[in-house]
Amino acid sequence: MKVTLFGATGRTGRPLIDEGRKRDMEVTVFARSSSTFHDPDVRVIRGSLTDETLLREAISGSDAVLSALGPTALRHPSDLPITTATEAILSAMKQENVRRLIAISTGTAVDPEDGFDSKIRIPALLIKLAMPSAYRDIIGLASSIRASGLDWTMVRVGFLKDGPAAQRLNIGVYGHTKHSMTVLREDVAKFMFDQIQSRDFIRQAPGISSL
Ligand SMILES: NC(=O)c1ccc[n+]([C@@H]2O[C@H](COP(=O)([O-])OP(=O)(O)OC[C@H]3O[C@@H](n4cnc5c(N)ncnc54)[C@H](OP(=O)(O)O)[C@@H]3O)[C@@H](O)[C@H]2O)c1
Repeated sequence: MKVTLFGATGRTGRPLIDEGRKRDMEVTVFARSSSTFHDPDVRVIRGSLTDETLLREAISGSDAVLSALGPTALRHPSDLPITTATEAILSAMKQENVRRLIAISTGTAVDPEDGFDSKIRIPALLIKLAMPSAYRDIIGLASSIRASGLDWTMVRVGFLKDGPAAQRLNIGVYGHTKHSMTVLREDVAKFMFDQIQSRDFIRQAPGISSL
């Protein structure tokens, strides 16, 4: 199988790439031109996240697109770069007839099925107040994916941690499933790859957290 990874130049990238390799998948990583990302063992396409030709080249022939794109910095640009990139990726997927998308999101992007969980809602409120540009991009990203009509799954996470996968997860929408605040990046990567051939969470946005 072939998979195209976006956002894999960040800290969840290594677990995602390693997981793809473990599963004998052909991995393509899309890196921004400015990225110092280097891995001789994967195909890397480097350029702008809005370059339609390059995006199509990266996505063409893939069985799925996995995205860990998301705001990082406290001072996130106000022009919604993640939403813009995601819309370009969604468009390229449609043109290349690649329907399966598994993307990281957060509890800040509320799902209609969510109940109330203060552990999720309070940090979301703080992000909205302290990081308004990042907040708007998180919401824009989720809205674009929901409107895409593709076979998407948003994997919503709290705080990400490094360490070996524990493979013991709470899985389900917030407010109805008991969740902790954190999840290991390796567990996120495994869960995302598990979704490629699963229909369990098509057009759903489960939260996942460490037990
Ligand atoms: N860290 C946490 O505790 C936490 C909590 C909740 C949700 N998340 C989300 O989980 C995902 C993975 O987290 P992580 O810790 O692995 O993130 P990370 O190391 O910060 O990586 C984020 C990725 O998004 C890209 N990105 C960031 N800002 C961008 C921009 N303005 N324009 C284009 N691309 C941009 C980065 O590209 P470059 O490498 O080119 O900069 C990188 O590939 C992200 O979506 C993050 O928002 C993280």
